[in-house]
Amino acid sequence: MTTPAMKLTMAWALCFCAFSYAQQATQQQPSQAPADKNPELPAGPGKSTLVRVCSSCHSPDNVIANGQDRAGWEATITKMAGFGASGTDEEYTEILEYLVKNFPAGSSTPVNVNKATSAQLVSGLGFTSAEADATVKYREKNGDFKTIDDLKKVPDLDAKKLDAKKAKLAF
Ligand code: HEC
Repeated sequence: MTTPAMKLTMAWALCFCAFSYAQQATQQQPSQAPADKNPELPAGPGKSTLVRVCSSCHSPDNVIANGQDRAGWEATITKMAGFGASGTDEEYTEILEYLVKNFPAGSSTPVNVNKATSAQLVSGLGFTSAEADATVKYREKNGDFKTIDDLKKVPDLDAKKLDAKKAKLAF
């Protein structure tokens, strides 16, 4: 036989169970930033730290253009710290591991020469700033480049250098 008092106790017990279960579930959630932030960056440990520490001056997408080896990434992070990036040693280590894993030497994403800013032409294609500025100026005056041959018409751009970067050019 169940008395009203027993019913009440059972209800409380159920309630308490549900509460502690919910609490446990929240505690088990990983403390990562929302996964859909910067979808162009591969998911993985260190991504949220990169987005947090490396977004204040430029887009964190900056890291996509040029893969580098560990020493290269170490040098980049040291350089960014010099510019004023504020991360802890632990955060820098996380970022370094993320970059070494996802953007190793030799990896590269093509640079759209019709959309890239002058700075992106420098960082993504290794143009000098004079070459990059000339490219943007030419584009503004003559419209989009359609092929590498259009790009070769930019005064100051070296055709040989462009051929060497062919795989990285997108139109
Ligand atoms: C305090 C501002 C600031 C922060 C924060 C910052 N950067 Fe930069 N970053 C710059 C500047 C300025 C440049 C352009 C450097 C140049 O032209 O020589 C740059 C350029 C870059 C480049 C292009 C290649 C190069 O070496 O110039 C990469 C890659 C890069 N940053 C990665 C990062 C990463 C990774 C982080 C986070 C650890 C970060 N940045 C945080 C200021 C910053």
